[in-house]
Amino acid sequence: MNPFTWNERYSLGQPQTDSDHQALFRLAEQLYDAVKNGAAQDQLDGYLARLESYARFHFEDEEALMRRIGFPELAQHRQEHQEFLARLSSLESLFRSGSAHLDEATLEFLGGWLERHVCGTDQRLAQFNNAGEARSSCAKEKMGAKRGVLHHPSGISEQEHSVTK
Ligand SMILES: [Fe+2]
Ligand SMILES: [Fe+2]
Repeated sequence: MNPFTWNERYSLGQPQTDSDHQALFRLAEQLYDAVKNGAAQDQLDGYLARLESYARFHFEDEEALMRRIGFPELAQHRQEHQEFLARLSSLESLFRSGSAHLDEATLEFLGGWLERHVCGTDQRLAQFNNAGEARSSCAKEKMGAKRGVLHHPSGISEQEHSVTK
């Protein structure tokens, strides 16, 4: 199963954010499928670059929203975005230099990060922005089961840190 397949559970009830998140998941899903199907290196490069560029665009948009509405967790939220981009770009350079092989297992940590970030950090932003009115199916279904992992300060589990080092 593709760990990046969009699920309505991830919807935060905010059309622009949900549409950006869907696009992000779709790009990651395409990259994962390409890896699984043994696509050529230049194709994989292209998928990685598109994912990174869309993630950067979405994160900047979200950070602008946080500044506009005075979201109190801006610094921590921004740090999670930066960590994701840093890991993606280190994966890119390792892959391009031939030091790392891009496989499905390598990519799964990205899927875990996306799910936790959307259902944890982005969910809190959506709730603040909607003054508590945001739909919370994401939090109800996903956060309860993984509370320990989701509450890690960086939003990334220790297990993932060790796998991807
Ligand atoms: Fe975010
Ligand atoms: Fe987001």
